[in-house]
Amino acid sequence: MNVLVTGGCGFIGTNLVRLILAEHPDLSVINLDLLTYAGNLENTAGLEEAYPGRYSFIRGDIAEPDVVNAVFERHKIDLVLNLAAESHVDRSIEAAGVFLRTNIMGVQVLLDAALKYKVGRFLQVSTDEVYGSLGQDGRFTEDLPMKPNSPYSASKASADLLIRAYIKTYRLDAVITRCSNNYGPYQFPEKLIPLMIANALEDKELPVYGDGRNVRDWIHVQDHCRGILAVASRGRTGEAYNMGGNAEWENIAIVREILTAMRKPETLIKYVKDRPGHDFRYAMDFSKIERELGWRPGVTFKEGLKSTIDWYLANRPWWERIRSGDYLEYYERMYADR
Ligand code: NAD
Ligand code: DAU
Repeated sequence: MNVLVTGGCGFIGTNLVRLILAEHPDLSVINLDLLTYAGNLENTAGLEEAYPGRYSFIRGDIAEPDVVNAVFERHKIDLVLNLAAESHVDRSIEAAGVFLRTNIMGVQVLLDAALKYKVGRFLQVSTDEVYGSLGQDGRFTEDLPMKPNSPYSASKASADLLIRAYIKTYRLDAVITRCSNNYGPYQFPEKLIPLMIANALEDKELPVYGDGRNVRDWIHVQDHCRGILAVASRGRTGEAYNMGGNAEWENIAIVREILTAMRKPETLIKYVKDRPGHDFRYAMDFSKIERELGWRPGVTFKEGLKSTIDWYLANRPWWERIRSGDYLEYYERMYADR
């Protein structure tokens, strides 16, 4: 069976491609990725040789119909796992256009191709951010209305609606996953956990937005990837499935945990100007996927954070190369007036 993974050179995509190849010998992977600033070919280096005939990479834009149709002409695709996206909330606040292009128009192009080439199933990797923000209590369930608060989450919510429309109108076999904050190996060091680890290692300030009391529900990327595969193979058509890590943490508590684990002083913490429209809290009710598909997160946050810190320590050249490129210019601009 041929699986088209889009965004397979990004953080979650890399982990997913590696998991499929390692644990599902019946599946072959075609990875379509534009290699934006967030996509890194180094992440998938050696996979063609390690899994002969089961892995191929195509550089291309999911929002370009000619590019996407050419992929489907060349390969008989049985399953699409769409992870390609612009994924960083702060960047969406700075410039929303590319988010709308990739996260909405790109999905429409993929959906049209899935219909045209009679793909068996389409899985859209969405996010808990489509639900908006919680107060101190409660958890997101799948039947809540979508109330996105950032250009990023609005673009993801738009894609979810488009998928619903294709299911209803064209009877496309599609499913949606909505997961909370991922962490783990290969995460681009603009996101909270890898940014704080890398800054701490270089004895740089750790920029905490606002008062640091915002809460996220953290899930190890391996757990998310296993959930994606469970929904792809056994999820009910037309349904959305939440995933979470059962690990709600205030940002400041995570930052302190990282500093303690790395034996670095708390004086590195710098409270900076808050993110505009900053969602206060995310928490996931994932009882539906647990009940229907038997999925639940397996990695505890403490174990996962430790192994993630170890990975960034062991792979310093990987993130140092990223941080010395275009990203440096972004970092200086984004954090200049904070
Ligand atoms: P990422 O930014 O690390 O990777 C995105 C990948 O998509 C990159 O490899 C990039 O090159 C590629 N890409 C971007 N635009 C493209 C285009 N037009 N055509 C083809 N490829 C393109 O993102 P991530 O954190 O791995 O997230 C993957 C998916 O999971 C996204 O859809 C995101 O919305 C969703 N998600 C992420 C999280 C999280 O915590 N990171 C949580 C829930 C859902
Ligand atoms: O919840 C799922 C989402 O998680 C995904 O859909 C997104 O693609 C992913 O980027 C992530 O979004 P967040 O905005 O929650 O993640 P981020 O790592 O950017 O921020 C996590 C929290 O940490 C958030 O409350 C903002 C805060 N933060 C972040 C950065 C980068 C800081 O305090 N300082 C920082 O420098």
